Amino acid sequence: MLAACLFLGVLPLAIAAPAESASAFVGSTVTATFPLPDATFTLNENYFPDAEQVGFPGPTPTGAEPLAIATAPVAALNYDTYPIIAPSEQYAGAGPAFNPMYYWGNLGPWYSVGGAFGLPETSPQIPAGCDLEQVHILFRHGARYPTAGSSPGVFATALHAAATNGRGFSATGPLEFLNTWTYKLGTDVLTPFGREQPFDLGVGFRVKYGNLLNKFTSIPVFRTTSMNRMVASLSNFAVGFFGVPEYLTSYHEEIIIEATGYNNTLAPYETCTNANNDVGGNIGNYASGNWTQIYLKETTKRLQRYLKGYKLTPNDVYAMQEMCSYETVALGYSEFCGLFTEEEWRGFEYSIGSPNSAARGVGYVQELVARLTKTPLTVFDTNLNGTLDGNPITFPLDQPIYADATHDVVIASIITALNFTTMAANGPLPWDRIPVGQTYHVQDIAAYSSNLVGQVLSCPASETPKEKEKYIRFLLNDGAVPLTGISHCETPNKDGLCLLDNFVQGMKERIAEIDYAYDCLGDYTIPNPDTIIDGRMIR
Ligand SMILES: *[C@@H]1O[C@H](CO)[C@@H](O)[C@H](O)[C@H]1NC(C)=O
Ligand SMILES: *[C@@H]1O[C@H](CO)[C@@H](O)[C@H](O)[C@H]1NC(C)=O
Ligand SMILES: *[C@@H]1O[C@H](CO)[C@@H](O)[C@H](O)[C@H]1NC(C)=O
Ligand SMILES: *[C@@H]1O[C@H](CO)[C@@H](O)[C@H](O)[C@H]1NC(C)=O
Repeated sequence: MLAACLFLGVLPLAIAAPAESASAFVGSTVTATFPLPDATFTLNENYFPDAEQVGFPGPTPTGAEPLAIATAPVAALNYDTYPIIAPSEQYAGAGPAFNPMYYWGNLGPWYSVGGAFGLPETSPQIPAGCDLEQVHILFRHGARYPTAGSSPGVFATALHAAATNGRGFSATGPLEFLNTWTYKLGTDVLTPFGREQPFDLGVGFRVKYGNLLNKFTSIPVFRTTSMNRMVASLSNFAVGFFGVPEYLTSYHEEIIIEATGYNNTLAPYETCTNANNDVGGNIGNYASGNWTQIYLKETTKRLQRYLKGYKLTPNDVYAMQEMCSYETVALGYSEFCGLFTEEEWRGFEYSIGSPNSAARGVGYVQELVARLTKTPLTVFDTNLNGTLDGNPITFPLDQPIYADATHDVVIASIITALNFTTMAANGPLPWDRIPVGQTYHVQDIAAYSSNLVGQVLSCPASETPKEKEKYIRFLLNDGAVPLTGISHCETPNKDGLCLLDNFVQGMKERIAEIDYAYDCLGDYTIPNPDTIIDGRMIR
């Protein structure tokens, strides 16, 4: 029989390892081979002269700068996940509207959230009668591979060990693909789809806000951190915003060092000691770990039936849910996705708790106030880097557009520092169930390329409508955020507007009430996480 198969050209492997038992290579890591090791790149101008050398570019005039955020009658919203797919038909109990991709928390793509934060009657478009003065955008990097040492790689290693321990394992039914599955993910850097996201964000930002470029008197400074995916995200944003090759000469890319001990408002955990120990960061991990044991208990039993020779734990199953999102954003599609129901995806989204700390976000709020009031920063006792933030070249105060790239947890910390308390309206998140009317959804806040946009507007004054006054409002992933939890912004407004002077006053008070030295560096014991309601430690 074996000989016959060989004769017919069928791989003997198929015989030696019937479909339901795992191959020895299962769970092993497969890495990229392009570019080939000895194919070094040289300009080789003799054969490949550049566009300038070749000439004949055709006509090149560009048109006027667009301002669709004011001129279009309705907002252009974002639900685009091309070219990645997670077919929804296969999700048990899911209606056609259920798309699991929007339940992947910080591991999913950003999408427009509409009225998620409580202001359903407005849109991202500039409110009638108002003029756009300035815009601030803070965005998260695009989709990435798992971070070093995180659970997908740990799961792959465990599976590989089981496949090679002599007895092996075998998978059937929906898990049959595991018999030949390999680990194809890199670490930390952007995936191809992750490059598209900030690029698209940049294109969209030009179409909506490009007109503000007319007000620049110098070359813009846009900021990011030094991590590879952070630099790549800002560059991709700039390519989308300015175009190729113009992006090379249209802005200064300020790269702030992200490493332990360096002050960086876009990577504040590097100096906030308590963000990385049992007092801060770990509280969320504990609560989330406990929730995993609960919501995946039955799922683990269900999947175990298809697996012999490997004992699944809820942590393995959790890694499989993560693998679904990581493989999809990296490879375009994942067999792991089909294993889970709608309810299990809702459980997954809820598991991604966010240990917010206002102290970590306060530096950005100080920078925002400086930019809004055009007042130089002079006191550096939080995570500001005085060398950069104290210099008008590296921290200009006259830009109509400010753009900063950051991380998911930083966006969460910054909205806490901004006192967007309406997002935590129903209090601390219980670790044993999803609360009814949950107001804090991680994917609404910190998905890949999530973006917080501050619009500074001049609008008719409420007292004398003929005169205009300056206002500010914030859109997080296109959803307007109520500012009513901020002192001096208490008056509800359907568009989420607050008078600029009042907002600045509220932020100054907020900065004063956040004790950076204590929250980040203080020596205290683990507080009861249920008592942290506005991101500050209880004394
Ligand atoms: C501030 O930034 C500069 C420029 O990158 C760097 O040389 C310096 O070490 C930074 N200082 C701190 C305290 O992070
Ligand atoms: C969750 O699990 C950790 C250990 O993993 C434990 O210390 C903690 O008390 C548990 N409960 C909560 C509510 O986090
Ligand atoms: C970095 O932060 C620390 C703590 O707030 C501060 O004492 C120091 O002056 C800062 N360094 C710079 C260069 O701003
Ligand atoms: C921030 O929010 C908390 C909780 O709602 C409130 O007590 C506090 O006054 C607010 N602070 C400012 C400056 O807005």
